[in-house]
Amino acid sequence: GTCMFTFTQSLGHNKLPFGGISEDSSLFPRNFLFGTASSSYQFEGAYLIDGKGLNNWDVFSHKPGNIIDGSTGDVAVDHYHRYLEDVDLMEDLGVNSFRFSISWARILPKGRFGNLNMIGIKHYDRLIDTLLRRGIQPFVALTHYDIPQELEDRYGGWLSAEVQADFKYYADACFKYFGHRVKYWITFNEPNVVAIRAYRSGIYPPSRCSPPFGNCSSGNSEEYLVAAHNMILSHAKAVSVYRRKYQEEQHGSIGIVMNAVWFEPISGSSEDNLAADRAQSFYMNWFLDPIIFGRYPDDMQQYLGSSLPVFTNTDKRNLRYGLDFIGINHYTSFYVKDCIYSICEEQPEVSRAEGYVSKSALKDGVPIGELTAVDWLHVFPQGMEKMVTYIKNRFNNIPIFITENGLGEMNQGDAFIAELLNDTKRVEYMSNYLESLAKAIKEGADVRGYFTWSLLDNFEWTSGYTIRFGLHYVNYATLERTPKQSATWYKRFISDHRVAR
Ligand code: NOJ
Repeated sequence: GTCMFTFTQSLGHNKLPFGGISEDSSLFPRNFLFGTASSSYQFEGAYLIDGKGLNNWDVFSHKPGNIIDGSTGDVAVDHYHRYLEDVDLMEDLGVNSFRFSISWARILPKGRFGNLNMIGIKHYDRLIDTLLRRGIQPFVALTHYDIPQELEDRYGGWLSAEVQADFKYYADACFKYFGHRVKYWITFNEPNVVAIRAYRSGIYPPSRCSPPFGNCSSGNSEEYLVAAHNMILSHAKAVSVYRRKYQEEQHGSIGIVMNAVWFEPISGSSEDNLAADRAQSFYMNWFLDPIIFGRYPDDMQQYLGSSLPVFTNTDKRNLRYGLDFIGINHYTSFYVKDCIYSICEEQPEVSRAEGYVSKSALKDGVPIGELTAVDWLHVFPQGMEKMVTYIKNRFNNIPIFITENGLGEMNQGDAFIAELLNDTKRVEYMSNYLESLAKAIKEGADVRGYFTWSLLDNFEWTSGYTIRFGLHYVNYATLERTPKQSATWYKRFISDHRVAR
């Protein structure tokens, strides 16, 4: 296994520009992973190239009206063809890890109902080998929002228990072909976001919603719970295959990545504190608790009663394989206000159904943190320390990776390239969040790595190409990549802080 680290040294006072973190090289453990993150649909392009099958996002993005700028991921940033150039960029940054996802439909165009696509396998072979030759550890997700369309069409994707067998079959193939070289596996990226956006507000494929969410006047309000339940059990099956057939020989670890929002109680009242706990249950712990403790959170069970699916004894047996680490994608914080004991006047929104209001909750008329071009992204660096410490305490100091953190800016067109390249806000954001992370580590959290979203500007789901998260600017006409100031800053940061490669 990997070693454990402890820190005793204090934060130095030698600040980088922008009020950033010190150069003290002992803030992060030896062997800490510094990387950038990506995902197949947002990066690869190569739509239906080399035998890839259709996936849910291919179908969804091709329907007019679904993506704000009418774009698709057909080409994205063409990472499928340009991965050598992109690995060069990583090498120049000095990162020792790269987070990417495998496109399920590229490996199994028809799920378990068709053949393995060996050309797709060869692509990831080349990517992995190229990374390893440069000293860059692959950190690989099996699914990042995508699922072969075949599985949607055949049985309704995550809504059917059948999907568990498909996910297990796919995971087994990935471990078999790549597991000798991949030491970090992620089963799911942000299954909480998928369950809520795809099966409740309906803004992601397969566009299923129920009142009062999305634009729905009818719909089954329990579907998002069923989808989540099947994802949890799919995770469990993939992990059980890994544990039983591969892990001993391959020496890797396997975890899940959750979108993690810090929920700050809007007041010191016990009602608002309970509401903030409830927010974590309904947002993050409804996945982590079953996987780690074998049950849904108590407050969620109380609130939802019999509409919450039940784990059978067989399910529980599968769940006991747990996970090796928790990955969190942490960007933002919201105030949380109780809506059970006090009446909330705010607009109905996702969280309202659980008896609390977040995101729109204002304290003295002010939201938490500084607002950005991205509506859900409030800059609140302390949230990183609080979030990591919360996970450390709740889950018995389990190893944690920050699998995403970063800042999005609006695409203002080519006239504004100079401004986009001079991205001091992103540098300030990363620097302050990393400083907050270092505090949590100093207080004893077992954090093993940090990945910024993202290496390149890319396809930001329903926002298409209108929001840019990259350390490198991408010209979408030529697909040329240009480092932003944040790339230069991250390179310097890594060389100041990384001990081992
Ligand atoms: C989380 C998702 O995993 C990623 O796909 C997305 O682009 C970023 N956050 C930014 O929204």
